[in-house]
Amino acid sequence: MIYPSDIIEEIRSGNDIVSVISEYITLKQKGSNYFGLCPFHNEHTPSFSVSADKQLYHCFGCGESGNVFGFVMAMENLDFPESVKFLARRAGISLPEPQYSREIAQQAHLKERLYALHKDAGRFFYSCLSTPDGQTAVSYMDKRQIDPRIRKKFGLGYAPKGRGSLYAHLKKKGYSDREITASGLCFPAKNGGGFIDKFYNRLMFPIFDLRMNLCGFGGRSLDGKEPKYLNSPETPIFSKSRILYGLNFAKAERKDELILVEGYMDMISLYQAGFRNTAATLGTAFNTEHTKVLKRITSKIVLLYDSDEAGTKAALRAIPILTKEGFSVKAVQVPDGKDPDEFKKQHGSAEFAKLLVSADNHISFQIEILKRKYNLENPEHKMLFLKEAADLIANLESSMEAEIYVNEAAKATGVSPESFFAEVKKIKAEKDKKARQDLRKKQIRNYNSTTPAEYKAQSKGVLKAAGELLCMCAADKKIYEIVSRYLEPSDFPNEALAELADIIYTKKSQNENIFPGELLNSFTEPELQRQAAAVFANEPAFDSHEQKEKALTEEIKQLKSLSLKRKLRSVDSIEALQEINSALKALETLSIDLQNS
Ligand code: UTP
Ligand code: MN
Repeated sequence: MIYPSDIIEEIRSGNDIVSVISEYITLKQKGSNYFGLCPFHNEHTPSFSVSADKQLYHCFGCGESGNVFGFVMAMENLDFPESVKFLARRAGISLPEPQYSREIAQQAHLKERLYALHKDAGRFFYSCLSTPDGQTAVSYMDKRQIDPRIRKKFGLGYAPKGRGSLYAHLKKKGYSDREITASGLCFPAKNGGGFIDKFYNRLMFPIFDLRMNLCGFGGRSLDGKEPKYLNSPETPIFSKSRILYGLNFAKAERKDELILVEGYMDMISLYQAGFRNTAATLGTAFNTEHTKVLKRITSKIVLLYDSDEAGTKAALRAIPILTKEGFSVKAVQVPDGKDPDEFKKQHGSAEFAKLLVSADNHISFQIEILKRKYNLENPEHKMLFLKEAADLIANLESSMEAEIYVNEAAKATGVSPESFFAEVKKIKAEKDKKARQDLRKKQIRNYNSTTPAEYKAQSKGVLKAAGELLCMCAADKKIYEIVSRYLEPSDFPNEALAELADIIYTKKSQNENIFPGELLNSFTEPELQRQAAAVFANEPAFDSHEQKEKALTEEIKQLKSLSLKRKLRSVDSIEALQEINSALKALETLSIDLQNS
C-alpha cells in the first residue's frame, strides 16, 4: 500500500458513499438502503443498491460490489492509488507523499521523464517550422487552410529531413539513451552506429492525454512517402488503443455529445470550424478500450467517418462496440466518398452543421448502408436485406421505436410492415432469451473469476456458503469462535474470501468491531474487492435457531470437505492420506450446537 491505512480510512469515511454515487446516478431511498439503475450494466428496473450503514454498493443484477473506492475505480476508470487521490481531493483531505516501492518509484520517474522529453520534442518540432526545410510543412498547412491560431493551439510542427537532429537535441537537453529509446521517437541504428529519428520530413501532430501531457506524435508524410501517417509506438505513456486525438480539447468543451472522426486532419478542421467537441482515432480501429476513456466524458456519440469502403466498415464496427457499452450512437456519412475535412472545405461550415444535425440514429444509418449493399429489385437480395434489417431492429428496446424502422425497411422492399414486424418480434424474443442467459453467465463468471479450477464446478453453492459464514462471523463473535475452530482462512474457496476470512478472524479475535466499508480498504484490486464486498450484500436471515444451526453445520461441512478433498490430491504419504480421510469421516457427524459450544 502506498498510503498509510489510517489516511485511507480517513478519506473513505470523509466520502459518504451515498453522496458520491448520487453524483453519478439518481438514487431513491428505501429504508436504510438506496436504489438506482446500475451504471455497470444495461437495465430498466433498478437492481443497484447502496447501503448507507455498511457504506457499500451492490448490484443484484450483475454482481458488481464494493466500497466507495471500488465505485470510483470502476466509474472513473482509476487504479486504487488514483481513486484515493480522487476522493482525497473531493473531501478536501491533503495526502502525504506516497510511500512507493522502489520499482514503482522508478516507473513513475521514467514516465515523468518521458512527458518532459515529449514536451521538449514538441517544442523542437515546432521550432523547425521556421527552418528552410520547414517551409514544406508551412506551405502544406497553408494548402490545407489551417488557421495560424489553430496551428499554434495544436502545437503542429515539422520533423526535419536529417535523421539525427531530434536525437541530438534530446541529448543536449540531458536525456539518457535509455529514456530516448523508451520514448520511441528515436531508435538505435542496426549496425551499432548511434541513434536514428523515427520521424523525418513530416508534419508533426502532438498527441495529448486527458491530463494535457504530450504523450506521443502522429506525423504526416510531406513527400508522398508511405505510410501517409506514422504514429508513435506503444510506450509507457502512449497507447493507440486508448488515446483519441483531440479528446483533451473536446473534453474542455463540456458538451454532452462527441463527434468521432477517423483522421487527424478531420479533427483539426472540424475544431477550426467551431465543432470543437470532436476527437479522432489514431489509425487504429475503434475498440472497447476507447469506450472506457469516452465514458468519462460523454454518453452520446456521433460517428462521422469517411464514406469510402474503409470508413463505412469502420463505422459499422464501432457501432456495436459503443452501443454495447451503453452509448447512444448516431452516425452520418459525408456524401460522394469524401472525408469530413474535404466536405467542410467545399461546402462551408453551415452545410456541415446541417449534415451533422441530419445524423441518424445508428439503426437508420445501418439500414441505409444495407440498402446500398443489396439490389432490392432482386427477390433473393430482398430477403437477405430483410433478414439483416430485422436483426438490427430487434436490438431496440422500445417497440414503438422498432415500428418506425420496420416501416422504413418494409417500404424499401414492398413487403407488408405487419409480416415483417412479426419476424422482428421473433428475433427479438430469441435475443432477449440470449441476453438473459448471458447475464446469468456473467453473474456466474463474477462469482468464479478467481477461484481455483476445482471450485469452479461447485461455483455458486460453495461461494454462497462461504459468504454467509463470513457475514455471520463478522456480525457475531460467538459464531466466529465456532467457525474458526473448523475453518482456516485457507479453507475458503478463493483468494478474496480467504483474505477476507483472515481479516475478519484477526479483528474478531481482538474484539474489534467490523465495519464492512472500512474492511474493504484492504482490497485494492477491483476484482477481489467485488468478491469480498458481495459477501456483505447478502446477509443470511433465519426463521429459527434450529435453522441457523443447520445452515452453519451444512456450510462448514461443505467448505471443509472441499478443502480436504483438494488437499487429498497433493498428498505425498500414507500418513497424510489417512489423516485427511479420518478428518473427512469426522466431518460427517459434525453438528453445530449454538447453546453448548
Ligand atoms: P486517411 O487516409 O483517410 O487520412 O486515413 P486523412 O485524414 O484523410 O489524411 P489526409 O487528409 O490525406 O491528410 C485516416 C486516418 O487513418 C490513419 C490516420 O490516423 C489518418 O488520419 N492512418 C492513415 C494511419 O495511421 N496511417 C496511414 O498510413 C494512413
Ligand atoms: Mn480521410
